[in-house]
Amino acid sequence: MLDNRKVLFSGMQATGNLTLGNYLGALKNWVSLSDEYDCFYCVVDEHSITVRQDPGVLRKRARALLTLYIGAGLDPEKNCLYYQSHVSAHAELAWILNCFTYMGELNRMTQFKDKAEKHSDNINAGLYTYPVLMAADILLFQSDIVPVGSDQKQHIEITRDIAERFNNLYGDVFTIPEPYFGKTGARIMSLQEPEKKMSKSDENPNASIYLMDSPDDVLRKCKRAVTDSIGEIRYCEEQPGLRNLIDIYGACMEKSPAEVEKEFAGKGYGDFKLAVAEAVNSVLRPLHEEVARLEKDKAYIDSVIKNNAERAAYAANKTLRKVQKKVGFPERVR
Ligand code: TRP
Repeated sequence: MLDNRKVLFSGMQATGNLTLGNYLGALKNWVSLSDEYDCFYCVVDEHSITVRQDPGVLRKRARALLTLYIGAGLDPEKNCLYYQSHVSAHAELAWILNCFTYMGELNRMTQFKDKAEKHSDNINAGLYTYPVLMAADILLFQSDIVPVGSDQKQHIEITRDIAERFNNLYGDVFTIPEPYFGKTGARIMSLQEPEKKMSKSDENPNASIYLMDSPDDVLRKCKRAVTDSIGEIRYCEEQPGLRNLIDIYGACMEKSPAEVEKEFAGKGYGDFKLAVAEAVNSVLRPLHEEVARLEKDKAYIDSVIKNNAERAAYAANKTLRKVQKKVGFPERVR
């Protein structure tokens, strides 16, 4: 990795099945950013256990997600792709940062409130301090930018607040990170309720296209996508279903909404839906092939997991040691 490049950190949870929204809204952007930045892309398995998980399923999904990172085009020689739980500095820095975060701040986190409501039988301390672990993830690598969905905005703000507080006390220890929200067009909505984000956990089987869906699944879901009775292919507020299909088609084919409108001017919704399905499948097909190929190469994936965790640990420990010294932990005898 080149030293003069800016540092990028982002992470994804291996819970639920990833959707086309995760790919077009996040992973695809990660790939295009990877030329420009020194990138750390983490599988944040420590965050996942803030909600109860089946251990076997979590382990399998974590590996599938890391394989997908590579399959989507992130080169593990140029980017650091690793499991959070393999780099102990995350948990160690999170502990220290817990002591620099106020309960009042955490009480304001809207994601905590939402999740506490959803998992009212298990409102654990980890769920509460989730944003602090996320701050540790980001600050460990002196990250300059953090690509995230807009639902993570508050978590980036608290990260910046914690970092500034620490820097004010101890000098310039942490780089203050900037969020990066990507292109606006890439916010993919539910096919059934286009005012809602496409979600990994939607109960309606037709609402989300999953990355591992077969071409037939994709076709069926596109055909059933909710539209309207206006009958014109236009990109506007009044036609949220169509607008979403235009966004999906545009993101897959790398075309602007205006170009898509023009291409389908005068055509019917049925034809357009078939074209959307074909566009989605043209993106998913190579992804499926690449993931299937990688899955067969167990030794290669294992070596990526090992090497990249070592590289991440090396970078992370530099920051951790500095922080430990600042807060007054005894020096290590060599
Ligand atoms: N909380 C993020 C999400 O659910 C995942 C995440 C954990 C993350 N640590 C991170 C994202 C650090 C960016 C940077 O989407």
